[in-house]
Amino acid sequence: MDITILGIESSCDDTSAAVLCNNVLLSNVIASQQVHVKYGGVIPELASRAHQQNIIPVIDTALKDAGISVDDIDAIAFTRGPGLLGSLLVGVSFAKGLSLAKDIPLVEVNHLQGHILSHFIDLPDRTLPHPDFPFLCLLVSGGHTQIVKVDSPEKMDVVGTTIDDAAGEAFDKCAKVMGLPYPGGPVIDKLAKEGDPSRFKFAKPHVDEFNYSFSGLKTSFLYFLRDRVAEDPDFIGNNTADLCASLQHTIIAILTDKLIKASKHYKIKDIAIAGGVSANSGLRMAIEEEGRKRGWRTFLPEFKFTTDNAAMIAMAGYYRYLDNKFSTLDVAPVARAEGF
Ligand code: KG4
Ligand code: ZN
Repeated sequence: MDITILGIESSCDDTSAAVLCNNVLLSNVIASQQVHVKYGGVIPELASRAHQQNIIPVIDTALKDAGISVDDIDAIAFTRGPGLLGSLLVGVSFAKGLSLAKDIPLVEVNHLQGHILSHFIDLPDRTLPHPDFPFLCLLVSGGHTQIVKVDSPEKMDVVGTTIDDAAGEAFDKCAKVMGLPYPGGPVIDKLAKEGDPSRFKFAKPHVDEFNYSFSGLKTSFLYFLRDRVAEDPDFIGNNTADLCASLQHTIIAILTDKLIKASKHYKIKDIAIAGGVSANSGLRMAIEEEGRKRGWRTFLPEFKFTTDNAAMIAMAGYYRYLDNKFSTLDVAPVARAEGF
């Protein structure tokens, strides 16, 4: 029997709704919020208000694009967390309202599991490569940097995590000190293509096991720029591409070093990446290159599944639906992953 899932994602600054039939994507609509650009970061109160404006038209469009009506939905999957509480609250409340009005079961989804399970979505006209269990997933976003050992859609262990900033934060904060627009990750990615990655050297942190740290890199980058700008006020403007390329090179080296270590330790060679930073072209190339060297099967998500989207929430919701893991109407959003 076919299962139709409506996915709703509102954890940060994108309002998204998607429809899946089993694991096949029928629609995926994302309304990105532009109001934050001028502040150089997401303003939670503005994000929450924009979600309220966007959510009905976004869901309406997702249903129309999929060619279904509300009555065809078997379950509503929504992001319960982690994320901004005010933003999550909009998606959670809408999901509950629709569930109550139409008597449709509710399924809560952990946003991070959603990113990882995006690797199991297929498109109507073609299947996509899916990793075998167990696999390792490097989850790199604006809020998280983790190596996750994925034993099944429901059994995931975080075997490494950042002890301070996330990789996406390192991109965004370093971009900010260079005067580049928010979010900095995609801008640095683009500018880095024209630069020399070996021009500047930044120290890599020493963190135990499979854990990460990015706040030291951010601070040393800031001090490095401060010293250079004191000598030459045009230093940043004249060296932007080399700065971006060198910084990106360092972040990628930090990320891949630990992933290689984890792959050896767990003897797992199916390696996936997920989350906003998995859109980074340098990271994607580096993972493929390591894969060729080390006999990995590598899984790079389609670009539309890298940043926040409801398709991945519907996908994770589908697995929970099959497991009969339904939520009740008293479910509340949670800001932190440990809340699950
Ligand atoms: O997963 P995501 O959309 O939201 C969170 O759950 O955090 O990730 C957003 C992060 C931002 O830090 C953004 O700068 C980064 O992903 N990002 C990139 C690229 N595209 C998005 N970082 C590096 N290179 C990119 N191409
Ligand atoms: Zn995310």
